[in-house]
Amino acid sequence: MEQKYIKPPVEIRYADELEALKASDTGRKPDNWYLSPKAVRTFILGSDKVFEHNGNKIRIGKKFFGNDALVERCIITLAGSRGLMLVGEPGTAKTMLSELLSAAISGTSTNTVQGTAGTTEDMIKYSWNYALLLAKGPVKEALVPSPLYVGMSKGIITRFEEITRTPAEIQDSLISVMSDKVLNVPELEEEGLVFAKPGFNIIGTANIRDKGVNEMSSALKRRFNFETVNPVKDVRLEKQIIINEVEQNAAANKIDMPVDTDVAELLAITYHELREGISDHGIKIEKPSVVMSTAEAVSVFYQTMSNAWYYEEDQLSLADLTQNLNNAVCKDTKDDLEKLKGYFNTVIKSKSEKVGGIWTEFYETRKYLK
Ligand SMILES: Nc1ncnc2c1ncn2[C@@H]1O[C@H](COP(=O)(O)OP(=O)(O)O)[C@@H](O)[C@H]1O
Ligand SMILES: [Mg+2]
Repeated sequence: MEQKYIKPPVEIRYADELEALKASDTGRKPDNWYLSPKAVRTFILGSDKVFEHNGNKIRIGKKFFGNDALVERCIITLAGSRGLMLVGEPGTAKTMLSELLSAAISGTSTNTVQGTAGTTEDMIKYSWNYALLLAKGPVKEALVPSPLYVGMSKGIITRFEEITRTPAEIQDSLISVMSDKVLNVPELEEEGLVFAKPGFNIIGTANIRDKGVNEMSSALKRRFNFETVNPVKDVRLEKQIIINEVEQNAAANKIDMPVDTDVAELLAITYHELREGISDHGIKIEKPSVVMSTAEAVSVFYQTMSNAWYYEEDQLSLADLTQNLNNAVCKDTKDDLEKLKGYFNTVIKSKSEKVGGIWTEFYETRKYLK
């Protein structure tokens, strides 16, 4: 079957799981929530139980790895009156987690403001359809609601991606909405008060190590519970995330090739060591300046696999993996290339001597680093 969208939203991708959970959901539930907090937790963290729905057996897989308690706290925050702010390095699944939460709580993950340097107050609150505004004046019909407006009037979650890319004074237009739960459209006079319905809340995400990041005012910070999302620390988990994500990407693009788990492990170890600055045998490593995120590891692996698939090779080429790794790591400065070469000449060399096998093959691809 042809795939309809390149990346279907969470609520479409996992529609079966959400419906199965909904059908058996008996948990306590805040008003207007699609699933109860307990079922939201199961959706994100998975379950061994097999759910029956419309005669099908549905398994709920784990989607976010590494910190179950954080997920539980996020859900409870959203049931309260403060917003949820997910902060951390790029590629730690903040966006993914906010989409999973929105889909499970509100049935949709697409009610989103994308923060950029060019985000204006109109984009956060509301704007006008100028043709209608000229023809009819400031009437409700002429108003173009923002995702925040929609969230408040329907009682669903509004996601605010990369909030700190937006100038601080624009971010601050959220303050009154978050404290009073009402949005005022002065042009509409008495019709112009939008009171938030239960179920409304905001999930913000912010990358802390990106360029072009603005501060957030303390007044706005006080309206949010902050959760810091850290990179996965456990190499086995990181390997598992790489395998899961690559399998899903491959299936979505009809790449019919098994994921090479040894290569996934090699890449997980490489990313882990470069991120931590120390090898598993205690050799010190100079850390590259770029963020060594799991998301990047997934993309390096997937790129290598696509190459093998479309050029009809039987297996992944480590030479190709190294070149993709090279491109991912050496984006910012020449120094990073030297650091990567240094890593090969110390850590990978030592693994090649001590462990051999795939590590020796990997060591031999160092000639491609340039
Ligand atoms: N803890 C984790 N659990 C599951 N997947 C993860 C985790 N950390 C990173 N990933 C992977 O990395 C991708 C990163 O995604 P994204 O949500 O865009 O990160 P962020 O918004 O933090 O920059 C996810 O889609 C997933 O493939
Ligand atoms: Mg993101």
